Amino acid sequence: MILPIVAYGHPTLKAVAQPITADYPELDTLINDMWETLAHSEGVGLAAPQVNKSIQLFLVDGNPFYPDYPAAKDFKQAFINPEILEVSEEMEPFKEGCLSLPNIYEEVMRPNKIRIKYLDENFQEHEEVFEGIRARIIQHEYEHLQGHVFVDNVAPLRKTLLQGKLRAISEGKCDVDYRMVFPRKKKHR
Ligand code: NI
Repeated sequence: MILPIVAYGHPTLKAVAQPITADYPELDTLINDMWETLAHSEGVGLAAPQVNKSIQLFLVDGNPFYPDYPAAKDFKQAFINPEILEVSEEMEPFKEGCLSLPNIYEEVMRPNKIRIKYLDENFQEHEEVFEGIRARIIQHEYEHLQGHVFVDNVAPLRKTLLQGKLRAISEGKCDVDYRMVFPRKKKHR
């Protein structure tokens, strides 16, 4: 089932997501629904808070970035209760977008290499190093679990310039071809 994606300004996007255990109700269904939602919206990542679940779970699928970014090919997996343990000093710029902020693309600096501990969808623990485009996608999604979105990282002046667009998104005044929930949309009378 395709789930609606919550838009910028929604309280769930601002909350710190909670860790989960293997007995979280209907987790398999949620993960399947999130895969379907991600494919439908042609994104490269989807965090549970974006479908209004404040839990520590995100999916990545780098394939839409292929062949522009060869290392994105077949990078498709689930991350549960992730913890970034280490980041490189070396930073890289990249123009990011987000399914919760349609039509906004901003350059964000992030470490180009990370070490992360996480559980897969079978609750098996992994510790891995990711770099380049894979580290980029992971860090963007990880940030959603901390109650932040990528525009929180842009320079204050730049963010001020974006305020009008961000407000319009939260009110539902944006052109998007997947289902969304807009926190400030006026109800029709
Ligand atoms: Ni996002």
